[in-house]
Amino acid sequence: MPKYIGILTAGGDSPGLNAAIRGVGKAGIDAYDMNIVGFKDGFRGLMENRTIRLDGSVLSGILTVGGTILGTSRDKPHKMVVGHKVMDMTDVIVENYHKNHLDALVCLGGGGTQKNAFRLMQQGLNIITLPKTIDNDVAMTDRTFGFDTALGIATQAIDRLHSTAHSHHRILVVEIMGHNAGWLALGSGIAGGADVILLPEIPYDINKIADAICERSKNGKHFSIVAVSEGAMSTTVAKELKELEELKKVAKNGNEKKKIVEKLMEINVEQSKHTMVVSEKLQKLCSLESRVTILGHLQRGGTPSAADRLLATKLGTACATLINKEHYGVMVADYEDKTKAIPLEDVIGKRKTVPLDHSWIESARLVGTCLGD
Ligand code: F6P
Repeated sequence: MPKYIGILTAGGDSPGLNAAIRGVGKAGIDAYDMNIVGFKDGFRGLMENRTIRLDGSVLSGILTVGGTILGTSRDKPHKMVVGHKVMDMTDVIVENYHKNHLDALVCLGGGGTQKNAFRLMQQGLNIITLPKTIDNDVAMTDRTFGFDTALGIATQAIDRLHSTAHSHHRILVVEIMGHNAGWLALGSGIAGGADVILLPEIPYDINKIADAICERSKNGKHFSIVAVSEGAMSTTVAKELKELEELKKVAKNGNEKKKIVEKLMEINVEQSKHTMVVSEKLQKLCSLESRVTILGHLQRGGTPSAADRLLATKLGTACATLINKEHYGVMVADYEDKTKAIPLEDVIGKRKTVPLDHSWIESARLVGTCLGD
């Protein structure tokens, strides 16, 4: 009996999603005689049963296309806004899975999607996932697809900032995505030759950054490029957050907890402006003009790199092979040049941040890059 496979893309889009959909679909149809149905806009489309049949003609010509032909959303099955209410729509999703006679559901996403997919697995659905995100922060996989493309875009941006920083004798502070992981900022910072790289993994001291920039000025380099990961924070903020998280764990009552949560939210709002703050402080401390560039969603847009197309195709086709063997409840990971099926319970609730002894950190320090510590 041919198998019926559902596929959806959830969370922020990422270059390589279409290559992965194509990999699952083409291998599924051509090698294993499967029927593939796509659900629109992530878990929301599965809940609303909005489908598109993914046959050869739909899968053709999408390898090089950015974004996702299925659309995506950040909706969670157990917490979905319906009308004006937040509701648990898991039962409806399970019902639609069966209504479509699915043998398996493939969920393409980052850390949040892995968790949501695991919850559906606990409802008895046959689930298999692929790791995608430009942040490269999914646990148990060497790489996520989307990362390499974003790395290239951010590197090119830093390259371009050099000539204008140099011409105007300015500090140029560039904010790079990555959520709470520093892979993108570190990778593009090293590849682009940033003078300072600030990561969530290494809280920074603004005075040490200023010292490094002043030292460059003394040596005749009256410009600097500062690559700031969106999740980077000062030592003061890092300490405050840690203390509040500890207090939250031991809060005696709801009221106390509410106050702590409010304080945490306040800090998060402040943090969303931290790149501007870094720039303003450096301008004062270094007596050099400073400007900010926020790369934002540019990093997620456009055509995937060759490496991302390859990775997405490799993981997508391996996914179809695993489904053919009825090997479910796993994420298809990139592992030492091969693929590996990792049980979903080993993936969820973990975030792959940059280890402090990572070779990229060592190299950055050895080429004289200031990491703010
Ligand atoms: O997870 C990918 C990512 O681009 C993060 O780097 C960033 O923090 C977030 O998504 C932005 O999300 P949104 O597109 O919902 O603003």
